[in-house]
Amino acid sequence: MQPVPSDAFFDALLDWYAQNAPKLPWRLSREPYHIWLAEIMLQQTRIATVLPYYERFLAAFPTVQALAEAPPERVLKLWEGLGYYSRARNLQRAAQRIVSEHQGALPQSVEALLKLPGIGRYTAGAIASIAFGKPAAALDGNVMRVLTRLYDYAEPIERPTAQQQLWQLAEQLARAAPSGSVAAYTQAMMDLGREICTPRAPRCEACPVRAFCRAYVAGTQASRPRRAPKAALPHYLVGAAILSNPRGELLMAQRPPHGLLGGLWEFPQGQARQAETPEAALRRTLHEKLALDATVGELLTKVRHAFTHFKITLHAYACRAERLDAQPLGYADLRWIALADVDQLPIARADRRVIASLRSAQARLL
Ligand code: ADE
Repeated sequence: MQPVPSDAFFDALLDWYAQNAPKLPWRLSREPYHIWLAEIMLQQTRIATVLPYYERFLAAFPTVQALAEAPPERVLKLWEGLGYYSRARNLQRAAQRIVSEHQGALPQSVEALLKLPGIGRYTAGAIASIAFGKPAAALDGNVMRVLTRLYDYAEPIERPTAQQQLWQLAEQLARAAPSGSVAAYTQAMMDLGREICTPRAPRCEACPVRAFCRAYVAGTQASRPRRAPKAALPHYLVGAAILSNPRGELLMAQRPPHGLLGGLWEFPQGQARQAETPEAALRRTLHEKLALDATVGELLTKVRHAFTHFKITLHAYACRAERLDAQPLGYADLRWIALADVDQLPIARADRRVIASLRSAQARLL
């Protein structure tokens, strides 16, 4: 059993990275803005999903300055479909701070990066090490799994003390990495977690550092990381209104700027309280959030969607109202818009699936 960290460990890992690393666009760049953008987009999101968004975003906003000055709605539109939209809002707020406080250049230290909106400990460590070669740790879920196996770490990783210990191990490793290769080391650990040291059925036979892996030697890799038992995600029923005016336009509503899906557009909708049906929730919501007296009619489609901490089933109903004088009481704005034009608005994923379903129903009728 060879010790981690040791020169032999870094040699094996960095050789593997040099031979196997995918040529991702943000790796071909040394521009800190590009690396920052990639790290934000890659949070909770797969590389294949991120690639086209990354290219389009940089084409639209080639510099931190351009991002800082862009209309927020345009930023959100380019983020549409990536999810976790507060990332886009924070990215732009951070760009504005970088322009006003750092002359348009990202700060290099973990401490200064942590002061920017949307940059937490992981992202600060990733930017400091990848863009600036600082010996900072970047511990995300993938790297955490690698560490629990390398050290055969047996505490449930949700515990705050476990998190502290794993960050300490990650920092110790980052400091021990060869000083010219910190960026490669950080990304090698990420790649190892994603490609080899996978959650289920890790490919240990292909692992460049299995000789250093205590879990591999002990045969415990399948039970690392250990997890505390998880509570099931709460599941909410949501009623959404498909309301059209005499011109055939649909009513869309913009969510308030802060909070979940802030600033995105959706069909007017509301979450059912305990024992409430989605129809009843919708009738109540139309009153409370739009001051609208409407009849809730036929169920047109149902869409399930999972967020980080809960799941929803969105029920979309054809609705009718005598008077179409809705007020944006619980919304930032309201707009009547043709189904063919709704793609101009940034729209949350569940509602886009409702739109797709309305379009295919319309196509069937034509
Ligand atoms: N996941 C998060 N950051 C990454 C990066 N820089 N390269 C590959 N995967 C990542």
